[in-house]
Amino acid sequence: MTTFDLARARRETRGCEELIHFNNAGASLPPATVADALHDYLRDEELHGGYEVMARREAELAHFYTAAARLLNCSPTEIAFAESATRAWNAAFYALDFRPGARILVGSAEYGSSLVAMLQRVRREGVEIVEVPDDAHGQVDLAALERLIDERTRLICLTQVPSGGGLVNPAAAVGQLARSAGIPYLLDACQALGQLPVDVAGIGCDLLCGTGRKFLRGPRGTGLLYIRQSLLERLEPHELNHFAAPMLSARDYRLRDDARRFETWERSYAGQLALGVAIDYALAWGLETISARIGHLAAELRRQLAPLDGVTVADRGLLQCGIVTFHARQRPALELQRLLADRGINVATVPFSANPLSSEQHPHPPLLRASLHYYNSEEEVERLVGELRENL
Ligand SMILES: Cc1ncc(COP(=O)(O)O)c(C=O)c1O
Repeated sequence: MTTFDLARARRETRGCEELIHFNNAGASLPPATVADALHDYLRDEELHGGYEVMARREAELAHFYTAAARLLNCSPTEIAFAESATRAWNAAFYALDFRPGARILVGSAEYGSSLVAMLQRVRREGVEIVEVPDDAHGQVDLAALERLIDERTRLICLTQVPSGGGLVNPAAAVGQLARSAGIPYLLDACQALGQLPVDVAGIGCDLLCGTGRKFLRGPRGTGLLYIRQSLLERLEPHELNHFAAPMLSARDYRLRDDARRFETWERSYAGQLALGVAIDYALAWGLETISARIGHLAAELRRQLAPLDGVTVADRGLLQCGIVTFHARQRPALELQRLLADRGINVATVPFSANPLSSEQHPHPPLLRASLHYYNSEEEVERLVGELRENL
């Protein structure tokens, strides 16, 4: 990876000076330009008043929609701002109507919160969750998915990249099956955005959720929802408000035409603006460049972990990303996480809620997770492996 300008990436990331941050699947270190945009906006609000700043900086705030549309290859009118991926996913999911017996097909990488929402609708409305098995590589089994699609199927849910491992699911191949069967396809791209190129036209998903703080390097409390225009026209939010549906009179309203029918009026405007800046920043590096750099670093980490006595790398999938998970026979994951934190290295442990179906199907000891971004260096990877070697 000689062409990647690591020095620039690190120069523009102030947090790199302080620590070794391998918790990018939790929340990345934002680049200075994103942090400054956030702080400057808050300062502007402090000095001039929130409503006044919002009116004056309207164009900058609106830029978020254009930036997100460029990131995902869609129209700005198909984008809604959300305060998290969970809010975005839930807004989409609860807008879909299901009759008793309606089936939701779901891959084993699905995020815990989404499963809870599905289970609520199992209890309340009698829908059925149908688990799509993994193939031999651990990714969603496309042939099984195709066999499971029938007249009862009302939704296909897929998590492209789970937070609990390196797997990258074949989102576009699932999109082809969903489209040819005419079934809505809800893609959780939370860990994929900012890490991999994600093109909704190429993938063929109808709905997509993402978060700002992970690989996009945006602020916390930000996220987005994409809704394909053809579905948007038929999709009414489960909850309405006077931003989503402006009042025509005291007794009448009209639903907005665009995806912002899934928003409310109040939000972190500073966060929205800074997420737009973060998306521009990622696009300026280029998502192909970013994913190649992350892939290179993660492969290097897996290669160096493999020969360590007692260490097992747990990542599944044919294609693997920057989320590296492993366990060590000698010490539990939580203890290792604390030990590394004491040495200035941030890693995470993987909770059951990261991907409960997969954790039940493939039980393993609690996992340690090192999630890498392009601003991490080869020396940092060696430092992590060195600390493990010395302390196991
Ligand atoms: C795959 C996946 N989906 C959804 C979420 C939820 O994102 P948020 O915390 O922004 O709601 C996460 C968070 O870790 C995730 O990893």
